[in-house]
Amino acid sequence: KPVAPCDFVVFGGTGDLAVRKLLPALYLRDRDGQLPATSRIIATSRAGLDIAGYRDKVRGELGRFVPDASLDDAIVARFLARLEYASIDFADADDWSELTDLLPADPGKIRVFYLACAPALFGPICTHLATHGLVDDQSRVVLEKPIGRDLASARAINDAVGAVFDESQIFRIDHYLGKESVQNLLVTRFANTFLEPLWNSSWVDHVQITVSESLGVGTRGGYYDNSGALRDMVQNHLLQVLCLVAMEPPTYVGRETVRDEKLKVLQALKPMTPDDVAHSTVAGQYTAGLAEGGAVLGYKDDAENVASRTETFVAIKADVRNWRWAGVPFYIRTGKRMERRSSEIVIQFKPVPHPMFPDSEGSNEPNKLVIQLQPNEGIRLHMTAKEPGPAGTRMRPVSLDLNYTEAFHRPSPDAYERLLMDVVQGNPTLFMRRDEVEAAWAWVEPILVGWQQSERGPRRYPAGTNGPTDATTLIERDGRTWHEGATP
Ligand code: BG6
Repeated sequence: KPVAPCDFVVFGGTGDLAVRKLLPALYLRDRDGQLPATSRIIATSRAGLDIAGYRDKVRGELGRFVPDASLDDAIVARFLARLEYASIDFADADDWSELTDLLPADPGKIRVFYLACAPALFGPICTHLATHGLVDDQSRVVLEKPIGRDLASARAINDAVGAVFDESQIFRIDHYLGKESVQNLLVTRFANTFLEPLWNSSWVDHVQITVSESLGVGTRGGYYDNSGALRDMVQNHLLQVLCLVAMEPPTYVGRETVRDEKLKVLQALKPMTPDDVAHSTVAGQYTAGLAEGGAVLGYKDDAENVASRTETFVAIKADVRNWRWAGVPFYIRTGKRMERRSSEIVIQFKPVPHPMFPDSEGSNEPNKLVIQLQPNEGIRLHMTAKEPGPAGTRMRPVSLDLNYTEAFHRPSPDAYERLLMDVVQGNPTLFMRRDEVEAAWAWVEPILVGWQQSERGPRRYPAGTNGPTDATTLIERDGRTWHEGATP
């Protein structure tokens, strides 16, 4: 179904995110007929391009980031005709005429201001939007993560943006929430009966959440070196996934109900004391190694900062202090330049209460539910079965497998396709509310502070491995092991 006519104004329209994600997503929604004829995409940047130059650039980049099978000359031409370009200095209010000229008042259109730029600019841009009379009740603003770099800066940004836009007009994006596999978590939990009775401390031994990437920091070293994995991945993506795993069932899945429940989980996370930071967190940084089929540089060379202490890997043992999860540790980890790209949730159940097969051979491993978010979305239940044979009982681990692509015969759309259309439709369910973002920063901050104060920098791990040995120790000292998903 087409969405309402809108103008997408992208601040940072020539940047990495716009080129890799936003424009391809909008192109694919256009291809499927979701963008009305009058909808436009107005890119702004300081690159000083003209519209012909910008359209040429986008034509080339679409070829790189949209699958060949989805590219169609006529649709590409239609999409390029929607593009406009304004060269402005975001921070300088006197330099906005190219943009204001493109946005005459038009009550029939929704304006979406997408801030795909440094968070320090979010406040000034919103102020300038208001000064130039570009914001009305129908306008929306989308904030890319990270929202700030700590709790104080996140609050300052939220205040500045909130002075111009009502909370209902603010869409703080976390693209993990737009992933089909992440949304499916709620359906898996709450549209089936058999999991929920087991989803608690009576039956679950611990939970693991891993988001590992095989890529390094690529060309984003400038941004990343000031950020690190805790701010880039944990404060947002991993905590959001943790919330969806741990939250209570809302009365129904609605725009505030899910966010209310996620907030309660964030508030239940045990605050990290300096001692917890020392014993329950690990920061790592990759060194040169073998990844992506060849020799690769270490992080310091990638970031061109020989003295960098920025972490490219994080592992944390977190405690959700509530009735459901008391005593069930949540081990979370994420890293760049790891052995493989894989995001998964592991619900490790307790062992059977009593061994029933005294003379059996083989092993009776505890059950494990592995929810693979990417790649190859699917769910695998590890269980124990009797190996066929005429004598005795030999037990063997087997698995029940659900592979989404095979089950549905179609690939999942990119997260941004869904999220951008939700913005136009004014649906905030899959976006982070102010209180969530601030609660997440409040939890993460003592870790940031603890690491800064520590004399010991991040532990090293060779590119292409599963992180520093301290991360292995973190879980093994509890008598548990990381699930290293077999590449399906
Ligand atoms: C982004 C981070 O938010 O998520 C990147 O800034 C990271 O550093 C990316 O690579 C991972 O997203 P995905 O969708 O590839 O898992």
